[in-house]
Amino acid sequence: MAIHYQKENGIFTLHTEHTTYQMKVDEYGFLLHLYYGGKISGSMDYLLTYYDRGFSGNPSDAGNDRTYSMDVQPQEYPGMGIGDYRCSALIVHNEDESDCCDLRYVSHKIQKGKYALKGLPAVYATEEEAQTLEIVLEDPVTKVQTVLLYGVLEQEDIITRSVKIINYGTGNIIIEKAASACLDFVTGDYDLLSFWGRHTMERNFQRSEIGHGSHVFGSRRGTSSHQYNPAVIIAEKNATENNGSCYGMVFVYSGNFMFEAEKDQFGQTRTIMGLHSDILHYPLKQNESLVIPETILTYSGKGFGELSMQYHKCIQEHIVRGKYKNQPRPVLVNSWEASYFNFNGETICKLAENAAELGIDMVVMDDGWFGKREDDNSGLGDWQVNEQKLGCTLKQMIERINALGVKFGIWIEPEMVSEDSDLYRTHPEWALQIPGRKPVRGRNQLVLDFSRKEVRDHIFDLICSVLDQGNIEYVKWDMNRSIADVYSMENRQGTVAYDYVIGVYDFLEKLTQKYPELLIESCSGGGGRFDAGMMYYTPQIWCSDNTDALDRVRIQYGTSFFYPVSTVGSHVSAVPNHQTGRSVNLHTRGVVAMAGTFGYELDLAALTSEEKVIIKEQIRQYKKYAELIQKGKYYRLSNPFQEECAAWLFVSENADKALLNVVMLENHGNMNVQYVKLKGLNPNTVYEVAATGKRYYGSALMQAGIPMPVQQGEYLSYQMEFIQYI
Ligand code: GLA
Repeated sequence: MAIHYQKENGIFTLHTEHTTYQMKVDEYGFLLHLYYGGKISGSMDYLLTYYDRGFSGNPSDAGNDRTYSMDVQPQEYPGMGIGDYRCSALIVHNEDESDCCDLRYVSHKIQKGKYALKGLPAVYATEEEAQTLEIVLEDPVTKVQTVLLYGVLEQEDIITRSVKIINYGTGNIIIEKAASACLDFVTGDYDLLSFWGRHTMERNFQRSEIGHGSHVFGSRRGTSSHQYNPAVIIAEKNATENNGSCYGMVFVYSGNFMFEAEKDQFGQTRTIMGLHSDILHYPLKQNESLVIPETILTYSGKGFGELSMQYHKCIQEHIVRGKYKNQPRPVLVNSWEASYFNFNGETICKLAENAAELGIDMVVMDDGWFGKREDDNSGLGDWQVNEQKLGCTLKQMIERINALGVKFGIWIEPEMVSEDSDLYRTHPEWALQIPGRKPVRGRNQLVLDFSRKEVRDHIFDLICSVLDQGNIEYVKWDMNRSIADVYSMENRQGTVAYDYVIGVYDFLEKLTQKYPELLIESCSGGGGRFDAGMMYYTPQIWCSDNTDALDRVRIQYGTSFFYPVSTVGSHVSAVPNHQTGRSVNLHTRGVVAMAGTFGYELDLAALTSEEKVIIKEQIRQYKKYAELIQKGKYYRLSNPFQEECAAWLFVSENADKALLNVVMLENHGNMNVQYVKLKGLNPNTVYEVAATGKRYYGSALMQAGIPMPVQQGEYLSYQMEFIQYI
């Protein structure tokens, strides 16, 4: 059993293979956090200390005991108004206008299997793989209850947390702030690893000290955002890629989120992951409830590399679903950077003919095939095929493409509407807008109110009638702006941002159920909604609108801290690159795109015959390595923000095969030799490099590394396959 309860001292212990999580119901019914970290035995309540701390309130239950204060005690789910002045996990605005929520233990339940969250994505597992602990806390005055949910995946070293808030009182309340996980550390100095960015430059690595005060970031954009990813690592000062203690918090949600870290007056650290409080004012009447999306926790005592691998495995095996979960993904060519809006049916068929010649599996017709959509100012919402533009029906076009042995995929952006569209002219009230105000435009489009079922149903029917026109095997689901006018003409306010995301999930769930064979790649101007929530519905996500191989190395590096390579949409594009103007050689563009789902995003007809030869070989190589890339372990071997080369490695489950990838980021006269140290090999195994026939011990490759050639040329790259020899 992974979950234990000791009645005599009220201690709950959650054990995974290498970690322990412990908490305790104390004499006043408060649920105190005792410990999270490397596996331990025994009761950790000896860590709690009691001193008279001036200006830190004492609950009346403690009588005259001035040493007991919620301002000091580590807690599992701290509410506001109970004398704890640190950041709260929950703020409830009560009927009487007070903001107090004093949560005390009521009951608990331990069950086999992992809890599920209705309407929300969450880690899933079999009855044998997981256990669930439910702890019910209640405010005795307002009867507001929180059901704290803990899922323990013992083998994976994963603990998930979610919270259901139920209003059992008679008064109406408003949830002003709610998190799904809080981690209190009574001691230690920590750094925060967070991943910030912008459109076309997502998930830059940042390491900063958690000093005194609050460190807050998140998204108010309605999506998880390009700007901050909903995932963090809390690292002990000495933790590095290969060593030291670190904790991860990954939010399984695709909307507004808020992460907070606070080092308090006594050097204790609190970290909280949850919904963004600025946009949440969720009213709950009697018996109504709100579920806070899940946070996935993990801990590693061996640095960020191991922590990342724990997340990769968890997401790959317990978040990603459907037909493509374990299947190699088709190598595709997308029409966007090939022709943008400037195409017709013939152009797409030509792309498919060239794709067939090169060994590409699928052609994707991106934006511009529907309604009046000659550029990005009109047409969204009118999901009718523009047969005039295509010069044929969709069915005819797909049949021509399939006859070449090439699959077909299509782009959609269901959540949006252009003001210049028939849909908007008929239903202006379906767009999110604040009455009396002109809406904020983004890319000249408005956002449909997906919190409303009738809006979703209408769009769903339109999209299905397109998907039913032919053999469509892939959909790219886009979302190209941040949400601003968070106001529904129909629904209650304060709920809209959350209900919108639930609406998107509902749509996606219905779509995946109706078309179980369909591969969906989500996208939001590239990586603006790159989160574990979307991965539950779409096994791959377009990682960035930036296809420049050099920038991609850094973007994919940041992405790799939490998300497996199988989720990373990555393509080879033309040079000079359309986002940066940089020209990186074709080999390197291929190597970088192979750290993802692999495909092309360029006009194949414009390729020279030499380029075609290279591309054919690239595809052959990718297909050879696809299984190792998708299912193997992924190791970061360098930090491309700091080092002269970017290096990463895929190693098979039993370490009999490995694929090393190195990209030279710098080029100077008389360069130093780059020695790249491998990881995850069997030390006593001899590996042979397929291309050269040279042999090395695993121990040598890991301890001393392997020298990379010093060669002239910009951004050269090397891919080396190591195969077990003896
Ligand atoms: C977004 C996507 C691109 C492309 C365009 C189409 O920017 O990220 O890949 O699909 O929209 O308008």
